[in-house]
Formats: sequence, structure tokens, C-alpha cells
Amino acid sequence: MIIDGGPRKNFNTASMLQKFAEGAASVGNEIEVKTIRLYGLDYKGCMSCMACKIKGKASNVCKFKDALTPVLEEIAEADGLVLGSPIYFGDVTGQMRTFLERLAFPWLSYNDYSLTAPKRMPVVLMETMNGLPDRNNSQGYGSMEYCIANALGQPEHLNAYNTYQVKNYDRFELASFSEEAKRQYRDEHWEQDLQKAFDAGRRMAESILK
Ligand SMILES: Cc1cc2nc3c(=O)[nH]c(=O)nc-3n(C[C@H](O)[C@H](O)[C@H](O)COP(=O)(O)O)c2cc1C
Repeated sequence: MIIDGGPRKNFNTASMLQKFAEGAASVGNEIEVKTIRLYGLDYKGCMSCMACKIKGKASNVCKFKDALTPVLEEIAEADGLVLGSPIYFGDVTGQMRTFLERLAFPWLSYNDYSLTAPKRMPVVLMETMNGLPDRNNSQGYGSMEYCIANALGQPEHLNAYNTYQVKNYDRFELASFSEEAKRQYRDEHWEQDLQKAFDAGRRMAESILK
């Protein structure tokens, strides 16, 4: 299951996730890849309804019904999970964070503070951003990474840095970016980033089939 937490359908995050999907699918017909675009869904974050913690009826899948319900149910049965998001103000997008509240709160036990998902699985956390590997403001998936690592398994990271924010820098007020420097970085890294995403997809699919 691939969860796209970015708004743009054909830009950096979507391209990286698409390559991941291609890599996974390249392993064989047994691999089924499904991509969900969060911005295409009408859903809320955790409603604090506490339905997942009712005595005798506790559930580690969210009980609140909206467009996210079938996605959360599918993740519960998936064999692998990929989350992708652009970095906005140092964090994943609000849409991704909202999704993660619904995914992770039912995992959390207030009896003993354990975190238990219906099933453990390989996870990749992907980010794209303007920042550079050694100079960026990304907090990534923040505190949600702890929940993911405990409930699903230690995630692998895949980041694309210094991405193109627009196709044509001349059209916008973006004077702090040098298009030439961006282009040079992109020429040196973007194809490799896509290849890394493809390879990560292939690796995850191979590990699932093993
Ligand atoms: C609202 C907004 C906030 C952003 N904040 C950051 C930021 O804090 N750090 C950063 O490195 N890039 C930031 N960016 C740049 C994006 O993370 C970057 O362009 C990303 O690759 C966009 O992904 P997309 O092409 O999939 O939309 C921001 C972009 C937007 C639109």
C-alpha cells in the first residue's frame, strides 16, 4: 500500500512513489500495488471518539466511518506500507499527519502504552523537500515514526532533496533560489533518487515474497 500525502499529482512526491510502485511491480505478477492519494479523500483526523478503546470491543483499526475507513482496513491486511509526503514548514503535510492520527491511535494501548498494529510489515517513509541532505529543516514523520517503528517495524527512509518546486523559476517570486543551482543539483541527483525509489520498491516486494 502506497500512501501519497502530497497534493500535486505529477510532481516530486508522486513521481518518487510511482517509481517505487514500478519497482515493486517489476518483481512479478504476484505483487499487487495500490496507491492512495490522501488529497483525493474527504476524511478527518482522530475524532477522539474512543470507540477503539471500548472494554471488550477494543480495536487496533479505527472505527470512525468516513472515506479513510476502507484505506485503514486495507492497510491492516497489507504486506507492506509506503508513506510519501513533501515537507511543509518542516513537517509532513497536514493531510499526512491527519491520516497518521487515524492509523496510529488505535494501535496505542492506554493500559500499558504498548503499540500494536494488526500486523507487522516492512515500511518505507519517503520525503521530498527543498532542503539539502546536510541543510534542511525536516522533522520528517516526527513522533509518528516512533509509533510506526514499534507497531509495524523499523522503517526505511527515502528522501529526495533540493527538488524543483516549480517547472519554471522565471515565472514566480522565488529569488532566493538559483534556478541554475537547482538544475545542476537536479541533473546530478533526480534520476538517482527515482532509481533509489524503484530499487526500494523492488527490495520490499522481494522481501514480501521471500
Ligand atoms: C506550503 C509549503 C511549505 C514548504 N515548506 C518546506 C520546508 O519547510 N522545507 C523544505 O525543505 N521544503 C519546503 N517546501 C518545498 C516542498 O517540500 C518541495 O517542493 C517538495 O518536493 C514538493 O513536493 P511535491 O512536488 O510532491 O508537491 C514547502 C512547499 C510548500 C508548498
